[in-house]
Amino acid sequence: MTADAPLPPPAARARVLSGMRPTGALHLGHYHGALKNWVRLQDDYDCHYFVADWHALTTHYTERDVLERHVYDMVVDWIAAGLDPERCTIFVQSRLPEHAELFTLLAMGTPLGWLERVPTYKDQIDKLKDRDLATYGFLGYPLLQAADILIYKAAWVPVGEDQASHVELTREVARRFNHLYGRVPGFEAKVAAALARLGKDDARHFDKQRKIYGETGAADALARGEAVVRRAAAGVEGWAEDDTELLLGHLRGSGRTILPEPQALHTEVLRLPGLDGSKMSKSYGNAILMRDAPAVVEKKVKGMVTDPARVRRSDPGDPERCPVWQFHKLYSDAATRDWVVDGCTRAGIGCLDCKQPVVDAIVREQQPWHERAEAYLANPKQVHWIVEVGTERARAVAKRTMRDVREAMGLAY
Ligand code: TRP
Ligand code: SF4
Repeated sequence: MTADAPLPPPAARARVLSGMRPTGALHLGHYHGALKNWVRLQDDYDCHYFVADWHALTTHYTERDVLERHVYDMVVDWIAAGLDPERCTIFVQSRLPEHAELFTLLAMGTPLGWLERVPTYKDQIDKLKDRDLATYGFLGYPLLQAADILIYKAAWVPVGEDQASHVELTREVARRFNHLYGRVPGFEAKVAAALARLGKDDARHFDKQRKIYGETGAADALARGEAVVRRAAAGVEGWAEDDTELLLGHLRGSGRTILPEPQALHTEVLRLPGLDGSKMSKSYGNAILMRDAPAVVEKKVKGMVTDPARVRRSDPGDPERCPVWQFHKLYSDAATRDWVVDGCTRAGIGCLDCKQPVVDAIVREQQPWHERAEAYLANPKQVHWIVEVGTERARAVAKRTMRDVREAMGLAY
């Protein structure tokens, strides 16, 4: 994927942030469910992607022997998939204690009920019965995720539907923080100074929209007010990001926006089934790994379950009842798909025939991944270096946010 035009500088691109737990080598479900999208986003956004190793500990807190390997295996998979360390920032959560600091500070004012009500909390406790998840860390995990996001002031968070409630919680936490701490000392004077720099007409127009919005909640008044600020940000000499935040906060009546509310970026993804037809997952042992060798892919796909009605080659089947069909939907062109539907429903083809194009397509897709991964596997230092550079880049942003947060909370001593 190469861009024709040179990339705009990061500062001009909206920030995207996402993380993934290090569970070891990634599989096709990870690729098609998340990673493919991450790769796409890196051209248009200032993307920050991190290894959520603390998050892994919230459920797997005793697995210290495999953690390091899982972290670096995953980074290799990311790069193999096409994440380009020159175009995005790749880092490891635990290398940035700032995340933990923000988590702690946010924890002070976050009602317990907000965390108890996150739907994944009870779901996961029910699902992972073999683990003791009645821990403080597990309950707090969505708040740690909120800290991960807010510390980068991310505008967009690409996540699956299962994580939507965590982004929603993050928004609530940000709103509460801004409400509690947004009115810096001298707020009124600072607003007046910023308004003066807008110029008379714009300042008057802005104030009118602010009043209308405050009284009626009219969205177009808010939009018109925001437009004035954006114009100033683009055109007024010496205008600072702080001025923008100050006036946007004033407009919304919420004080200064210290931690902007992020938005979830949901992409439509096809849920890839595993070899047994249930969701592809490493823990179910039904996954095709991104870097499985061609022979392994062939063996796995050929052993995949099919429509149970097709006991014998002469029994007609129904693709909709067959997990192999989900792979055709993802990988095959229309002609191949027609061939499958026709051959399956009329028992014209055998299941092994039907699986061959899937094997071929996966092997073809994997080839560049293998090639890219090989170079890094031969030189692990380079992977460490990439993480090092990314971590320092992230740290610069995280530090800046923490300075604002400490100041807002009265901790700047
Ligand atoms: N909770 C996410 C998961 O389990 C991983 C994650 C941690 C994350 N922090 C994040 C995702 C911040 C997006 C943004 O998949
Ligand atoms: Fe599944 Fe293909 Fe066999 Fe039909 S022919 S049951 S779609 S593998």
